[in-house]
Amino acid sequence: MGIKNIFFFTLWIILGKFCATFASEPDTGTDAEFVNTSLPGTPLPTTADWINNFTDIVSKFSLRTAEIPDDDMCYIVPGRPETISECHFNPDTQTFVVIHGWTVTGMFESWVPKLVSALYEREPSANVIVVDWLTRANQHYPMSAAFTKLVGRDVAKFVSWIQNELNLPWERIHLLGYSLGAHVAGIAGDLTHKISRITGLDPAGPTFEHADNQNTLSPDDAKFVDVLHTNTRGSPNRSIGIQRPVGHVDIYPNGGTFQPGCDIQNTLLGIAAEGIKGLHNMDQLVKCSHERSIHLFIDSLINTEQQSVAYRCNSKEAFNKGLCLSCRKNRCNKLGYNVNQVRTTRGTKLYLKTREMMPYKVFHYQVKVHFFSETQQSFTEQPMKISLYGTHGEKEDIPFVLPELNSNTTVSFLLTTDVDLGDLMIVKLRWEKDAIISWSDWWGSSSRVHIRKLRIKSGESQSKVIFGAKDGEYVHLVRGGEDGVFVKLKEDPMSRKEKLMHKLKTQGSLF
Ligand SMILES: *[C@@H]1O[C@H](CO)[C@@H](O)[C@H](O)[C@H]1NC(C)=O
Ligand SMILES: *[C@@H]1O[C@H](CO)[C@@H](O)[C@H](O)[C@H]1NC(C)=O
Ligand SMILES: *[C@@H]1O[C@H](CO)[C@@H](O)[C@H](O)[C@H]1NC(C)=O
Ligand SMILES: *[C@@H]1O[C@H](CO)[C@@H](O)[C@H](O)[C@H]1NC(C)=O
Repeated sequence: MGIKNIFFFTLWIILGKFCATFASEPDTGTDAEFVNTSLPGTPLPTTADWINNFTDIVSKFSLRTAEIPDDDMCYIVPGRPETISECHFNPDTQTFVVIHGWTVTGMFESWVPKLVSALYEREPSANVIVVDWLTRANQHYPMSAAFTKLVGRDVAKFVSWIQNELNLPWERIHLLGYSLGAHVAGIAGDLTHKISRITGLDPAGPTFEHADNQNTLSPDDAKFVDVLHTNTRGSPNRSIGIQRPVGHVDIYPNGGTFQPGCDIQNTLLGIAAEGIKGLHNMDQLVKCSHERSIHLFIDSLINTEQQSVAYRCNSKEAFNKGLCLSCRKNRCNKLGYNVNQVRTTRGTKLYLKTREMMPYKVFHYQVKVHFFSETQQSFTEQPMKISLYGTHGEKEDIPFVLPELNSNTTVSFLLTTDVDLGDLMIVKLRWEKDAIISWSDWWGSSSRVHIRKLRIKSGESQSKVIFGAKDGEYVHLVRGGEDGVFVKLKEDPMSRKEKLMHKLKTQGSLF
């Protein structure tokens, strides 16, 4: 009882602190402070050898190990080469530099050891360095946001120093930054001009949405910049994650605004399950979607057999209609660690759906269907159920709502399944009765449409299959009636070639 009360009390304090910073600030006329990223007394470096002056470095660089991923046991100190060997830094492999974001508690968050472990699981011989800038990250948000410049300089100095000491190939240095840490990585990349890859995990929005490239993560900061956007709700100035694309590949899982499984109820259950320990993770509630970017990346490191794929699309709306499942000309890409390092046109966005837990992968299908009817019929928001039967599995009664159903028109919609069905063979479609009893149903003249063909395109396999009635020309669909059954008629021959090309690309070009 007592614990429960403390639990919610703490929750509201944290919520209050978080929301006050992100939501109310712009209303109170302190917008200028909110937007101004320049910090008094820190002019940009002008001397040529500023990068070799280590006297003002505040950030700490700890080489974590696979055995003890959750604690800083050994710091590598710029200017002190002996610390490199003391920490057993491996000069013959790649180096990951993990950079945290703003912190309410002033402590490392629980995702840090998880990401460290996942990096070691994937690349056992690698060096995983965790940057500690907790003291500067534990300030009033605008202050911490302004500190990203100084921290970026610290990271730039560290990386160039260790690169130079050991003559490390720049291709083996990968910076990963979460939230404000993504902008730190961007500034470090901008100052060194050499970084090969930066991964931005839901880069922070407030202060940065309208800032220039020098102050934010941008495609100029590394040879390749990949970004996951997972919490971009609200107006640009209030969005926790930056809304605009800032990399070569910008992926917006589930539209980028809000992640499945992150509603209040789910998160509270998760916190409650952890008991007292959960108290420390209370701020998960507000950060669930934000932090999902990290867990999606971890997923890509450890669940290599369940690689999520994202698809380029002009809008979230078009994606949700299933219109963007093409992989031609690099229109799709792998999410996370295994991304194909293609520098797509700036400003393009990729989308995908995910499950609410790891492994996050789902399979995407576009269903295209033309409804015939003799008499004029027009419906909106019609509940339907679809069942898919394939060579590897089946998924029955997937519910969805058809926004519009009109006579003699074609509709396209997106379906996802969390299991791999293989090649689809049979499809069943049912038109449910909605809650409101319509007059036509009342009088017995039931609503009825006919379907000749149903086309399904699979994003993951790139196949296009046409389905039709088993007997006769049409499948009849009656509202509140039985399943309409469709069988595979043929596969689009063009798609067979694309399927092969896709296979070659996704399975033949792993990094
Ligand atoms: C931002 O802050 C710097 C340093 O305090 C100041 O010189 C500059 O005028 C400010 N810019 C704006 C737009 O307020
Ligand atoms: C190094 O930086 C500190 C602090 O910015 C400065 O006081 C000092 O003069 C610099 N040293 C050199 C050799 O430039
Ligand atoms: C957001 O902030 C920028 C920079 O201060 C301003 O130009 C813009 O109008 C603001 N947008 C909204 C929607 O408030
Ligand atoms: C739909 O098209 C069919 C033929 O393709 C036609 O017979 C029917 O009258 C059309 N229905 C409506 C409502 O226009």
